[in-house]
Amino acid sequence: MNLIMFGPPGGGKGTYSSRISERYGIPHVATGDIFRREVSEGSDLGKKIKGYLDRGELVPDEVVNEVVERRLSEEDCRDGFILDGYPRTLPQAEALDEMAKIDLVIVLEVSEEVIINRLSNRRICRRCGEIYNLRSMPPKREGVCDKCGGELYQREDDRPEVIRNRLEEYRERTQPLIEFYRRRNIVREIVVREEKPVDEVMRMIYSALESSLPAEV
Ligand code: AP5
Repeated sequence: MNLIMFGPPGGGKGTYSSRISERYGIPHVATGDIFRREVSEGSDLGKKIKGYLDRGELVPDEVVNEVVERRLSEEDCRDGFILDGYPRTLPQAEALDEMAKIDLVIVLEVSEEVIINRLSNRRICRRCGEIYNLRSMPPKREGVCDKCGGELYQREDDRPEVIRNRLEEYRERTQPLIEFYRRRNIVREIVVREEKPVDEVMRMIYSALESSLPAEV
């Protein structure tokens, strides 16, 4: 099954996609994670895109499309994948159509109040990428990952002024894509108006997934 997890910054795309990936044994392909890795390794691509990430602006389509096309052609994506953070513009959605057939798009609708609260408290493991929240999902030991013992850090783009830019980019360039997929009748919306525990949101997502996909996938 080929899935897209769609939603605003801080909507929970990474948190929920990683659980879907474990449950269904399909790779979690997150463009934001790929880009942050390139930046931290100081690669040519990383140098080219760092400014966009720091400012909370979208990386140019041709760069993103090339990265995703390469990743989806790898062996582990043959039997399905979950895309997190891609596509984010109409040209990206059209490029994706050339790469794969999408079975389902899960759209997270989350209020702005919840988003800002989540992002300012988010911490991530430098080693394994596990996502925490100091208020709702704190690690057992401060600054240390429960899963692998790695160091927890705060993302550069989780500063208030950059969060504002990311939300604006989402509203103007990404949100209109929901209509693009709605016309194909493959959109399932998950509405989170006020904070709900992750397990509760996961139950809603699994139920949407299991009622929409053929029994054998
Ligand atoms: P990206 O990394 O994709 O960032 P984003 O879309 O802004 O999304 P986030 O990672 O901030 O949030 P999320 O929805 O994954 O939420 P999370 O699960 O962490 O992209 C970063 C940048 O890369 C972009 O700004 C752009 O520059 C570039 N880029 C990436 N893709 C691109 C593309 N296709 N085109 C162009 N440029 C691109 O959750 C957030 C917090 O909430 C966590 O702390 C989590 O623990 C907590 N949380 C989640 N659910 C719950 C819950 N139910 N209860 C309590 N806490 C919760």
